[in-house]
Formats: sequence, C-alpha cells, structure tokens
Amino acid sequence: MAVTDGIAASVRRSLERLAEPALAPFLAEWPQNVAARAVVPHSLSVLRWLPEVAAAAPRFDAELVGELCDVAPLLAWRQTYSVGEVGPQFLDNYGWSELIGHRGPLPSERVACGFLLLGPATSYPRHHHQAEELYLPLAGLAAWQQGDDAWCERPPGTLIHHRSDEPHAMKTSAQPLLALYLWRGEGLSGNARLDQ
Ligand SMILES: [Fe+2]
Repeated sequence: MAVTDGIAASVRRSLERLAEPALAPFLAEWPQNVAARAVVPHSLSVLRWLPEVAAAAPRFDAELVGELCDVAPLLAWRQTYSVGEVGPQFLDNYGWSELIGHRGPLPSERVACGFLLLGPATSYPRHHHQAEELYLPLAGLAAWQQGDDAWCERPPGTLIHHRSDEPHAMKTSAQPLLALYLWRGEGLSGNARLDQ
C-alpha cells in the first residue's frame, strides 16, 4: 500500500469519527479504489516546524498528526503565492500538500483534501477561492477570520466552513499550525487569490 493511501485512510477515519453533518457531502465524494499518482517529494522550509507540530498541545487526533509528520518528507509541498505578493518571511513559514484532488497522489475531480502548515507568528493574508472549503485544525492554536467578523481562536478539532469566494485569513502566534483542508464544488483546480 502506498504511503499516501495510508494517510488518506487515516484522514477519512478521523473525519468519520468527528460525525459532523457538514462533512457528509465531502465524504460522499471521497475517491474509492483509484490508482495513485506518483508523487515527487518536494520539501519547503516550513517543514522545519514538524517536530513542534508533533509535540504540540492541544492536538486533534494525535495518531493522525504523528502519521503526517512521519510521511511529510515524502509528500510534495507547494506554495500558491509569489514572493512579490507575500514576502520572503511568509514563504519561509507556509506550505500545503494536496493528498486528494487534481494534482495530489489520489486523483479526484469532485473533492480535494490536503494539509496546510504555517510556522509560528505567521499571518496568512485575507484570501478567497471559488471552491467551498472546510478546515480542520489538527495541531496548534491559531486565530481565524471569516469575512469582516472578529478574529476567533479555533482549537484543534474545530470545523471551519468557508463558502465559495468567502474571504478568510488566519494567523498563528507561539505555535505552528497544522490543519486539514477539504474543497468541493467548482474551482477545484483553481488557486486561492489574495484580496486586494
Ligand atoms: Fe481557503
């Protein structure tokens, strides 16, 4: 079994355990019995925070966090933005890896799923995308903002829903953040765009 099959099965098990109705349409589209794409590992400097992520408290599903930290060096970590848009310090503390979707190791045209990693003291600027999104923080305490609402701390295990094109932002303080993201609907192959 490919490494990515193992982590995908663990993600699904973890989401099913949450038993949140909002997850049902995402889980209904979960790819079954698909042949995995080969992944060329690609590292980013944000992976230097993995030991802190593995030891963070609180964590949601410590087993899944540990498994992700173990396989992270085998995954392809990517960035959406250029240095001109977000600056070098952000790019040094930011990365995501798609597990399921148009480009990830488990192909799907219906749903995307992956991991976001942010270093400590990092602000992910306000952005939006066409796909509907659920975030599930797994490790680290970060503040999140939706639209013009007040910033709100969302501990690991909290499900965060973003409607299509709803602006959102997040910022970490002392701890790095590891979060799971799920996308569905139109725009799965599109990128997030920063708000002006
Ligand atoms: Fe998003």
